[in-house]
Amino acid sequence: MSKILIIGAGGVGHVVAHKCAALPDVFSEILLASRTKSKCDAIASSIKTRLDETIATAQVDADKVPELVSLIRDFQPAMVINVVLPYQDLTIMDACLETGVHYLDTANYEPRDVAKFEYRWQWAYQDRFTQAGLMALLGCGFDPGVTGVFTAYAQKHIFDEMHYLDIVDCNAGDHGQAFATNFNPEINIREITQRGRYWEDGEWQETEPLSVHKPIEYPDIGARESYLLYHEELESLVKNFPSLKRARFWMTFGENYIKHLEVLQNVGMTRIDPVRYQGVDIVPLQFLKAVLPEPASLGENYEGQTSIGCQIKGVKDGRDRTFYIYNNCDHAETYREVGAQAVSYTTGVPAMIGAKQMLSGNWMRPGVFNVEELDPDPFMADLNAYGLPWKAQVDVPLPHEYAEEK
Ligand SMILES: NC(=O)c1ccc[n+]([C@@H]2O[C@H](COP(=O)([O-])OP(=O)(O)OC[C@H]3O[C@@H](n4cnc5c(N)ncnc54)[C@H](OP(=O)(O)O)[C@@H]3O)[C@@H](O)[C@H]2O)c1
Repeated sequence: MSKILIIGAGGVGHVVAHKCAALPDVFSEILLASRTKSKCDAIASSIKTRLDETIATAQVDADKVPELVSLIRDFQPAMVINVVLPYQDLTIMDACLETGVHYLDTANYEPRDVAKFEYRWQWAYQDRFTQAGLMALLGCGFDPGVTGVFTAYAQKHIFDEMHYLDIVDCNAGDHGQAFATNFNPEINIREITQRGRYWEDGEWQETEPLSVHKPIEYPDIGARESYLLYHEELESLVKNFPSLKRARFWMTFGENYIKHLEVLQNVGMTRIDPVRYQGVDIVPLQFLKAVLPEPASLGENYEGQTSIGCQIKGVKDGRDRTFYIYNNCDHAETYREVGAQAVSYTTGVPAMIGAKQMLSGNWMRPGVFNVEELDPDPFMADLNAYGLPWKAQVDVPLPHEYAEEK
């Protein structure tokens, strides 16, 4: 039984708070803190109505280490779940070190002024967390997160050696809005407007943004146009599974989404450098975020499913083998359960499960870790138990080209 501090009251924070509150034997007391306290209070009231559980709420600016430190000292949690934005990862890790509490997040650090995410900044905390006897678990959402656990499971149970990894992420849902992003718009648009990148033969290959795409078949959904993107888990997966000759990430986008994104880019609305407007500096992408729907507000009329999984080719006992492991998640069902759409749900549930593994001792060890470095089995069992059941297929044809077949 442990006290837990959740920071961030957006779409993902809503789900983490509900899923933790549903397990009072693991998470005995919960404090939900964020920049806007009224959003924490709205989540607390939904938890009271749905689960008849009470959680505490607080205001905090997660950019400020002293504010975080005093909040943590007052509440004295065993760990912090960070579901704010990637900009605050380092301040929250600093506050955890200063107060002696464990740490978990779902997205790696990204500086505000460059649209660039990488693990270097957080991996640099390795010695400090190890010496303090504390654990920091990085990237424990769905992707990154479950995709890393799926890959670790494949290495443990299915392959002697994995050679090709394709992570395939489909959102076939319809929220009825002309244009909206399923998680924080600023972070989402920074991610997908970057140059594409994938790992092949020991080095990174770059592509023009969204220039490589093809239809991929998703279970119970059908074929959807899928775009090659750089995604953060590729960096840790190729490091932790050096037998991979190639690792790529694919995400679906509808024609309408791409059309809106192109226009926004062409008119300069996705810029992240400040622009002088009526005597003040504004960042166009931050202004765009302010006028787009909040991810947490998309749930009500959302229909359809997400399907995210790993398609892997490798060898077992000297023979070629393929493996496809995935979860499908239905927007309307998650809305019925916790009042959130499936993208928030598929991120928030793994964050709760990761925290549960740490607090139960299954995963707890000092240092900074990516999820694939830990035993996948208890986490995989909890995915089935807490709302994200997975399916797997061995030796099925996969829709990718492989070097040995060319
Ligand atoms: N691994 C995955 O699969 C995955 C998938 C989706 C999202 N994510 C990550 O999950 C995180 C949350 O996403 P989301 O969709 O929930 O975003 P969101 O709806 O925009 O919520 C972000 C929350 O953080 C709060 N916040 C921002 N800056 C803050 C600060 N300085 N101090 C305190 N609170 C602050 C916001 O407060 P206000 O309400 O006051 O703005 C808001 O409550 C992001 O880091 C995202 O990258 C991971």
